[in-house]
Amino acid sequence: MYRTHNCGELRQSDVNSEVTLSGWVQKIRDLGAMTFIDLRDRYGITQLFFNKEDNSELHSQTEKLGREFVIQVKGKVTERSSKNPDMPTGDIEITVSELNVLSKSDVPPFTIEDETDGGEEIRMKYRYLDLRRAKVQKGIILRNRMAQEIRQYLIKNDFLEIETPFLIKSTPEGARDFVVPSRMAEGKFYALPQSPQVFKQLLMIGGYDKYFQLTKCFRDEDFRSDRQPEFTQIDCEMSFVERDDILNLFEGLAKHMFKEIKNIDFTEPFVRIAYDDAMEMYGSDRPDLRFDMKISDLTEVVKGNNFKVFDDAEFVGAICAEGLAGYSRKQTDKLIKWVQRPQIGAKGLVFAKYNEDGTFKSSVDKFYSQEDLKKWADATNAKPGDLILLMSGSKRKTLLALGELRLEMGNRLELRDDNKFAPLWIVDFPLFEKDEETGQMHAVHHPFTSPKKDQFHLIETNPENIKAEAYDLVVNGNEIGGGSIRIHDTELQEKMFKILGFTEEEAKAQFGFLMNAFKYGAPPHGGIAFGFDRWVALFNGSESIRDVIAFPKNNAGRDIMIDAPSEIDAEQLKDLSLAIVRE
Ligand code: AMO
Repeated sequence: MYRTHNCGELRQSDVNSEVTLSGWVQKIRDLGAMTFIDLRDRYGITQLFFNKEDNSELHSQTEKLGREFVIQVKGKVTERSSKNPDMPTGDIEITVSELNVLSKSDVPPFTIEDETDGGEEIRMKYRYLDLRRAKVQKGIILRNRMAQEIRQYLIKNDFLEIETPFLIKSTPEGARDFVVPSRMAEGKFYALPQSPQVFKQLLMIGGYDKYFQLTKCFRDEDFRSDRQPEFTQIDCEMSFVERDDILNLFEGLAKHMFKEIKNIDFTEPFVRIAYDDAMEMYGSDRPDLRFDMKISDLTEVVKGNNFKVFDDAEFVGAICAEGLAGYSRKQTDKLIKWVQRPQIGAKGLVFAKYNEDGTFKSSVDKFYSQEDLKKWADATNAKPGDLILLMSGSKRKTLLALGELRLEMGNRLELRDDNKFAPLWIVDFPLFEKDEETGQMHAVHHPFTSPKKDQFHLIETNPENIKAEAYDLVVNGNEIGGGSIRIHDTELQEKMFKILGFTEEEAKAQFGFLMNAFKYGAPPHGGIAFGFDRWVALFNGSESIRDVIAFPKNNAGRDIMIDAPSEIDAEQLKDLSLAIVRE
C-alpha cells in the first residue's frame, strides 16, 4: 500500500496513528541534528520530521533527497511543538520511521510553489511541473467541479448529453477553419468544428429536444487572453422553445452556478439590455456593470462654439470619472496618449475638470465659457471634484472608444472588483452587419439565427434594420455565452444565405444536408453555447483562460511542451498526397 492518507488530511485527532504517506518533496530544511521535509500532493502539504538522535541511519538517507523526489514514508503522527496555523495540517507532523525513494528527480527548472521563479515560457514548456503548483491545481479542480455542477443541472432538466463528430465540414462561426487532410479521399479535407452548431440543429430534427455537450471547438483566429484555438463550450439546444424559455432556463443554470460555486444568491432576474442601448450607454455589447459611469450624448450641448472638432462631428460623447478633477497635466497628457493607441484609435480627448470650488478648467477653455462647461457637467451628472472626458467622431467608433475609456477609468478608480459579479443578458442584436469596405452583409451571430418574429417581412426590403432573436450572457465585461432562436423554415433560410452572399449552388454545397433536413418536419428550436474556459476563469479570478486549461496553447497557437504544430515526415505527406510549397 503506497499510502494510508493523503498529504492534506491528517489533524490533531490523528496523533499517535501509524500512517504511510507518498508524495513529492517540496522543501528540505536540514538543521543538522534534525531535518524537516514538506511532503506535497494535490491535497496539501504534511511536514515530515527526521531526528538524527533517534535514528541516525534514517536521518542520513535524507541527505540524498532533492526537490521533487517522489518518496514514501511510514511513521507516527505527532503533535508539533511549534504549530503552523496557516496550514490545515499545521498542528501535526510525521515522525518518520521508514523512508523509500519511489522516484528521483532532476533539479526542476523552476520552483514549484505559488510564488514561483519560473516565467510563463518555461512553465509552459514544463507544464506538467507547473500543474503541480497549488495555484494552478485550484483552477483545474474548480473546472472539474463546475463541469459536474453544469451536468447535474442540465440532466435534472431532462437534457441528454450527446457527442457530435470532430471530422466534419466547415461550420459557419466566422473564424478560419482548422483542416485535416484525408488519406482515403485524395486532395480532400475535413474541417474541425468551430462549434457543433449544425449537428445540434440536426439533433432537434432527430427529435432529441433537449441536448447538451461539453465539447471542444476549434477556431483559427487571432489570439486574445480570452481566446484559445481549441476551447470548450457547454453547447445546448432545445426544441419547442421561444427566446424567453431559453433565457429563463439558462439564467437558472447561471444562478445555480453562482450559488454552488461562489455562494452568491441572485434572487432578482438578470438585467436584460437591448444591444442598441448597451452600445449607447456603455459603448460595448458586453458591458461591465460592476460600475455605472454611463456615456452621455453631448452632441447638441457642445455645438456652436466655433470648436471645429465638435462642430463637425457626427457624435460627441462623454463619461464622468468621479473624483479625478485633481488629475495633473502629466496625467491628462498620458490619458490622451492612451486613447490614441492603435487599440483604441481615438484622435484625441477633451477634458473638463470640475474643481471642488465649483469652477471649471478644460482643455478647450478658448471655446467654452464656465457656463458652457456647467452644461457639460449637468449633462454628465458631474459633481465638483469630477473629471469629464469627451470624445468625438463617427458615432459607432466614438462609442466604442468611450467604452474602452470607461473600462480604463473603472480600473483606475478600482471599480472592477474581482469578488463582485454583474451578470446580464444582451438581447435584440442586429441580424446583419455590413462590411464597410466591401458592402457585403455578414451574420452578426451565425446564418441560422432567426429574425425577430415581427420582422420576417423586412428581410427582402430592409435587412440592415432587422433585429435578431439572439442573446449573449455577459458577466463583468466578458461574453460568457451566446445563442439564438433558429430559422426552421427552408425558405427563410434560403433568403438568409442569399443576403449573406451565397449563390444557390454554394449554399447547397455547404449546407444542403441541413436544408434538406428542414423539409422533414423541423421543430421550432433554439439554443446557446457558453465558453466554459471563460466561465471557469471568471470564477477562478484568472486574467487568462490559459490558467484554467490543463494544456493550453501559447499566444502563437503553439504547444511548446510537445512542440506542436510541427512538420510531418515525407512518407506521411505522400500518403496524404500533399506537398509543402514554401514561399
Ligand atoms: P459563439 O461563437 O458566440 O456561439 O460561441 C459561444 C461562446 O464560446 C466562447 N468562445 C470562446 N472561448 C474561448 N476561445 C475562443 N476562441 C472562443 N470563441 C468563442 C464565448 C462565446 O460566448 N454555435 C454558437 C452558439 C449557439 O448559437 O448556440 C456559437 O458557437 O464565451
